[in-house]
Amino acid sequence: MSEPVQTPQTFQSRIFSGIQPSGGMTLGNYLGALKRFAELQNRGIETVYCVVDLHAITVWQDPEKLRNQTREIAAAFIASGIDPTRSILFNQSQVSAHAELGWIFNCVARIGWMYRMTQFKDKAGKHAENSSLGLLAYPSLMAADILAYKATHVPVGEDQKQHLELTRDIAAKFNHDYGVNFFPITEPLIEGAATRVMSLRDGSKKMSKSDPSDQSRINLTDDADTIAAKIRKAKTDPEPLPETVEGLKDRPEARNLVNIYAALADTTSESVVAEFAGAQFGSFKPKLAELAVEKLSPITTEMARLMADPAEIDRILNRGADQADAIAQPILAQVKDIVGMIRRREV
Ligand code: AMP
Ligand code: TRP
Repeated sequence: MSEPVQTPQTFQSRIFSGIQPSGGMTLGNYLGALKRFAELQNRGIETVYCVVDLHAITVWQDPEKLRNQTREIAAAFIASGIDPTRSILFNQSQVSAHAELGWIFNCVARIGWMYRMTQFKDKAGKHAENSSLGLLAYPSLMAADILAYKATHVPVGEDQKQHLELTRDIAAKFNHDYGVNFFPITEPLIEGAATRVMSLRDGSKKMSKSDPSDQSRINLTDDADTIAAKIRKAKTDPEPLPETVEGLKDRPEARNLVNIYAALADTTSESVVAEFAGAQFGSFKPKLAELAVEKLSPITTEMARLMADPAEIDRILNRGADQADAIAQPILAQVKDIVGMIRRREV
């Protein structure tokens, strides 16, 4: 996990990632994203993290809830170890370069690319023609988020892989269409034991904040008793834990709990299986619950403390937006030059 980050030629290493304020945070978001974001920050790489409210409104959001969830996601970032003095932490809609570059990318990307996205197909469902135009263009805005900072690496969970391939396609097509080597071809960072945390009720479904069943997920706001109860009731099979990870093949629920344990304990699934080989879930689950509570409780407590002072969160996001603007505006100005737009006079 700690191999050096390889930088695409001629571009300075910079990490960018984002999370939507479209609901509460889950254990999946924590292990697949937030925990890794903090690790990358702590390795001394430049890190830029964003609460992507423009993406959230591709599906209707209640305005008051959107405001509250934006602050809650910011609190979750900080409680998970993102230090706003070492990372840039901000809210997407406060930095206009995202929407502006997103438009330019809408004119670079092809509609067919967007229709192929599995997230679009899942979210649009059977009535795609009734979904917002923004939902279709979503990956183009995501490319703009990343490339407005010329970010070289993007840590995400497995579900975002296809969107990142599209970001690479957009960067390459822009470079090609305008005959420049302007945008880096961004590398995804999808690493660790928990790149795809599954539902606690159904090992074939991703753990998600939008799942109708609250039992399917652990929320970062759940208290210790709730976490323990959800793990106790998590779906498993009647077999004990196998001797090797190969034995978890075709046992999605068992594999999921082992992966969660490994990610929380900062170890590998191999070593978890070695430790618990032959154990029944009746004895493994309490250990997992104990570990989950130990790791998540401090985060829940810190989030609650931060949420008690929303004005302070807003100040942090404001400072982050100023820092983000300072990077993105000059890049956007160069993009406009490349595309052939006349610059506004300096005021
Ligand atoms: P979202 O909540 O969809 O904005 O996702 C924010 C980040 O969390 C992205 O990097 C996702 O890939 C990651 N993520 C969301 N759900 C999961 C999951 N169940 N397992 C692993 N990573 C996840
Ligand atoms: N699409 C991502 C998700 O649903 C969120 C996101 C928006 C993002 N912009 C991004 C992730 C830029 C990484 C980089 O999880």
